[in-house]
Amino acid sequence: MKKNIKISIGLTTAGLLTLLGLLLVELQTREASVRPFQEVAIGGAFSLTNEKGEARSEADFAGAPMLIYFGFTYCPDVCPMSLDVMGAALETLEAQNPKLFAALQPVFISVDPLRDTPEQLGEYLSYFHPKISGLTGTPEQIAMVKKAFRVYAVRRDLPEETAQDKGSYNVDHSSFFYLMDGKGRYLAHFDHGLEAQSLAQKIAAKLR
Ligand code: NI
Repeated sequence: MKKNIKISIGLTTAGLLTLLGLLLVELQTREASVRPFQEVAIGGAFSLTNEKGEARSEADFAGAPMLIYFGFTYCPDVCPMSLDVMGAALETLEAQNPKLFAALQPVFISVDPLRDTPEQLGEYLSYFHPKISGLTGTPEQIAMVKKAFRVYAVRRDLPEETAQDKGSYNVDHSSFFYLMDGKGRYLAHFDHGLEAQSLAQKIAAKLR
């Protein structure tokens, strides 16, 4: 009887050690695969039009970091709040890190190409920090840049009574600030709910 217990404890220990070993291998494999995946997964080439009606690709932004936010000008709340945070973070950077501020290219990319014409973008962005420029495009061009940045954005039709002042549909969308380096490579993304000071600090830390 005692012997049996000893054997079964022995077996259990061996089993646990094997499991632990497998877990460690699994964790190591994950560590190794996560990093390179992130580096290639977000960002890439794009072909869009700015708020002045000029064609713009990733090559036009090469050489300086970009801070990118995806949204749409008819957005009732999230986009205006995020652009306010972005603007306030830019002001903080201008005061605390003028070189970085001068280099940084803050860009608003539309996920609503049907309504966000260059003129509409220009009018909308005039309410926010003057350094923020806008990009829009054809539905195909916007679909491509959304895919490149792993942006979620889906059209939702509005009930008729709320449809009048804000257009007939809304766009549910993910809401992050993407920081890209001067070669267009993904560095980080930040939640839109951050305080402006904190966003400025995180940007400065990533670009140090
Ligand atoms: Ni929005």
